[in-house]
Amino acid sequence: MAQTGRAAADLRVDGSRLWERIEALGEIGQVLGPNGERGCARLALTDADRDGRDLVVSWMLDLGLQVTVDAIGNVVGTRPGSDPQAAPVMTGSHIDTVRTGGRFDGNLGVLAGLEVIETLEQHGITTLRPIAVGFFTDEEGARFAPDMLGSLVYVGGLAVEEALDIVAVDDGATVGEELARIGYAGSTPCPAAVVPHAFVELHIEQGPVLEDEGIAIGVVTGVQGISWTELTIVGQSAHAGTTPMGMRHDPGYAAAAIIVAARELALRFGAGQVATVGRCEFTPDLVNVVPSEVLLTLDLRNSDDAVLQRAEVELRGICNDVAAAEGVTLGRRTLARFEPVEFDAGMIELVESTAAQLGLSSRRMPSGAGHDAQMLSRVCPTSMIFVPSVGGLSHNIAELTERADIEAGANVLLHTLLATATTP
Ligand code: GLV
Ligand code: MN
Ligand code: MN
Repeated sequence: MAQTGRAAADLRVDGSRLWERIEALGEIGQVLGPNGERGCARLALTDADRDGRDLVVSWMLDLGLQVTVDAIGNVVGTRPGSDPQAAPVMTGSHIDTVRTGGRFDGNLGVLAGLEVIETLEQHGITTLRPIAVGFFTDEEGARFAPDMLGSLVYVGGLAVEEALDIVAVDDGATVGEELARIGYAGSTPCPAAVVPHAFVELHIEQGPVLEDEGIAIGVVTGVQGISWTELTIVGQSAHAGTTPMGMRHDPGYAAAAIIVAARELALRFGAGQVATVGRCEFTPDLVNVVPSEVLLTLDLRNSDDAVLQRAEVELRGICNDVAAAEGVTLGRRTLARFEPVEFDAGMIELVESTAAQLGLSSRRMPSGAGHDAQMLSRVCPTSMIFVPSVGGLSHNIAELTERADIEAGANVLLHTLLATATTP
C-alpha cells in the first residue's frame, strides 16, 4: 500500500544499515595505514573491483532489483514504478577507487542509493517512476584514461568499441580483456536505450569547504573542466659520473622544470586554476644513470573553459621551451579533456529545498573533482549532493565522512529521489 503526504515526508533512511554496507564494501581491497586508517585499493577491473561488484550486485538482488550489466560493465539495479511507461529516476556513482583511495569516494553514492531503495521497500512506498541505482565502470581513470569512462559511454560520449580498446597504465591489459576476465562484459547495449528522467548523485565533497563553514550539505552547481595530458620526454642516457653537465640531454631535468612551471602557472593564473603532476616515471630509474626517458602526467582544471584553454596553451609553450633548451624531445597524448559542466537549475533548486525541508544547512558550490553526474547531465536534468570530508581529505586512505553527515546526505538523496519519482 503506497504511503503519501505526511508519512512519506517523515521518512528517513537507516543510517546504521548504510554505514554497515560502507564498512563491508570497504573491507574489499582494504589498505591499512600506520595510524589505523582504513583505505581502499580497488582499481578499475582488477580482482578487487570484481569482488566489490559481486558484493554490491548481491545486495541489489537481495533488494529485488532488476539488474543489468552493459557492454562497458556499468551495473544498474532498477526498482519498478507504478507507471511501466515512465522513464526511471536514476542515482548512483562508482565503486572503483584510486590505489590510495578511501571507503567513501563513489561508494557512498551507490550504497546510499541502495539504502533509499531499502527504505522505500520497508515502508511499502511505491513511486510512479522506477528508481535505478547504478555503478559506472572506471570513474577514477587511474588505471584506464579517461576518467568517468563508463558513464561517458553510457551517455553516448564515446563509442563502446573504442572504450574497450583502452590500455591499462599498469599492466597493458585492455578494458575489454579485463571486463571479460572479471565477468562483467555485459550484454545490455551501451549507450543506454532508456534516457533517465533525472539523475542525482550523493558524493563526499573531497575538499575542505563544508567542514570549514560548518555546513551539512553542498548543493552542487556544476563541475570544473578537466584536462589530462601524458608527456613522454626522451633524452640521452649517460654515465652520471663522467658526463659533463653541459653535455647532458636529461629528460629528468626537463621533467622537474615542467613540474615547477605547472605549479607556478597555476599560482600566477589564480582564480581557481589548479595544476598537478601525479605521475612521473624515470627510465631506467637508477642512481648513477642520467635517464633516457621520463613519462609524466599533467592534470589542469578550471571552471572557466577559456581560462583552462589559456593554461593549456601556455604550459604547452613552456614545455616546448624547456625541451628545446635541454635538447630532449617531447611526445604528447591527451588522456582526458572535459569541458566545465553546469547542472540543471531545477535539480539544483530541488536539492536545495529538500535540504531546507529536512532542516539541514546548505550552500551552493561547484565540484573540483570529476563525477559520473557530469556525464549524465549531457542527457537528463542532473545535480549532486555533497557531504563534508573530514580535513578536506580524499584520494587518501585517511578519507573520512562522519556518520551523521552520511545519514543527512542520504536523507537528502531519499527525498530528492522521492520528489522526482512521484511526479509525472
Ligand atoms: C576523479 O576522482 C577526479 O576528479 O580525478
Ligand atoms: Mn568519486
Ligand atoms: Mn575519486
